[in-house]
Amino acid sequence: MEDKYLILVNKTHACPENDFQIVKVNSQYKDNVYLEKQTALAFDKLKAFIKSQGYDIEVESGYRSKEYQAKVFEEIEAEKGLEHTLRFVARPGYSEHQTGLAVDFCLKENNRFYIDFEMQDHPVLKLVADNACQFGFIIRYPQGKENITGYGYEPWHLRYVGNFAQEIKNQNITLEEYLEKE
Ligand code: DAL
Ligand code: ZN
Repeated sequence: MEDKYLILVNKTHACPENDFQIVKVNSQYKDNVYLEKQTALAFDKLKAFIKSQGYDIEVESGYRSKEYQAKVFEEIEAEKGLEHTLRFVARPGYSEHQTGLAVDFCLKENNRFYIDFEMQDHPVLKLVADNACQFGFIIRYPQGKENITGYGYEPWHLRYVGNFAQEIKNQNITLEEYLEKE
């Protein structure tokens, strides 16, 4: 099945040229956040659903240029070392954030924001994992699949795949595995 939203970007597949439309989105977490257009619409719906369940999520990181990804990589490497960085941050040119289809969400609670590992074990992670597929998102780097995705567990990193999300979740597989079966 061909679909532009099934584009594969990982450690061995660089972000290809594409015609995704990137739009500005509002995030209370920070200014100048951009996502691919359908991804932005879908995230708004997911966010409203999560809000109806009692939690506030926002975009922590959306579209990243190759240059910005290089900056992220360098900063995390300086802070946490190369081994950690290679497990959690893509090399510039190899991040799906460069497509605009990836969203790192954060949690706003008691007037502060909790990002990535700060949300560890928070119930919002399960709520998002259980429901994101209804809005076209998969948890792109699930627990126990590091040997397939190339990355450690990132419950905050959502990837928009549109209509394929439900099936990928039902089969409990990664995007890599789903595309192999096609
Ligand atoms: N955290 C993911 C792997 C990225 O940097 O694209
Ligand atoms: Zn991410």
